Amino acid sequence: MALIGVFDSGVGGLSILDEALRQLPQHDYIYLADSANAPYGERSSDWIADRSLVLCRHLLDEGCDAIVLACNTATAQAIAQIRDSLAIPVIGVEPGIKPAAMRTQNGIVGVLATEATLKSDKFNALLATLPSNCQFIKQAGAGLVPLIEAGKANSEAALELLAIHLQGIQDAGADTLVLGCTHYPFLRKAIRKLLGESIAIIDTSEAVVKQLKRQLEATAAPDAKHGKQQLTFISSKDEHSLLAMANELMYSDMRLHHIQAKLLGNI
Ligand code: DGL
Repeated sequence: MALIGVFDSGVGGLSILDEALRQLPQHDYIYLADSANAPYGERSSDWIADRSLVLCRHLLDEGCDAIVLACNTATAQAIAQIRDSLAIPVIGVEPGIKPAAMRTQNGIVGVLATEATLKSDKFNALLATLPSNCQFIKQAGAGLVPLIEAGKANSEAALELLAIHLQGIQDAGADTLVLGCTHYPFLRKAIRKLLGESIAIIDTSEAVVKQLKRQLEATAAPDAKHGKQQLTFISSKDEHSLLAMANELMYSDMRLHHIQAKLLGNI
């Protein structure tokens, strides 16, 4: 079986890990959260690229056979450099604007992502490939990631801040909303409360894990489906709180795994 590294600035990538455990429970995983430095979304491109590379190298040193860059912001700023530097498959995540363009009925799509993702060349190059009759209302979700990191995804404060961020998207009449940050699926309840049930919400975690599966098949990582698989959580801030958040936010049954939590050393 393979050892897969899943990296995010904080707890957002748990939405991807959760899907990976659903689709590919037979593998071992290391989840690495750089919560001491989250949010990444308002930091400079160079900082995000350098830090992401350092942490992905750490995952390689831990023995990972593949890495999921479970962070739209890090993918936008750093995936090319990371792929050039590491000789293992690196799978990234991108806001699902392409599936959203295919899904929308009225041609109006809201995109909620971090400022760094929305400003990135990678995102804007992707946007430029999409039909011009589709209107994208882009909104940076400033302040949302710290609330989610603090375990307040379902709080009144998160609802109020989201209401402000989603106002323009709602006013424009969007029928589709792209969640362009892996933290945001944890706000799904609040989003539904504000925008109702009819808006289509696009989150790419399922597609990302399918891509991971294809990569593992291509590199012939053997599947061994016996016993409990190892699930290691590493945090640069507080490994116990990361574990508590994983238990709270993920649907996967953690009892099916051997769990370990570690503090990231001085990196
Ligand atoms: N979860 C991340 C993303 O997908 C980053 C959020 C942040 O640290 O700002 O963009």
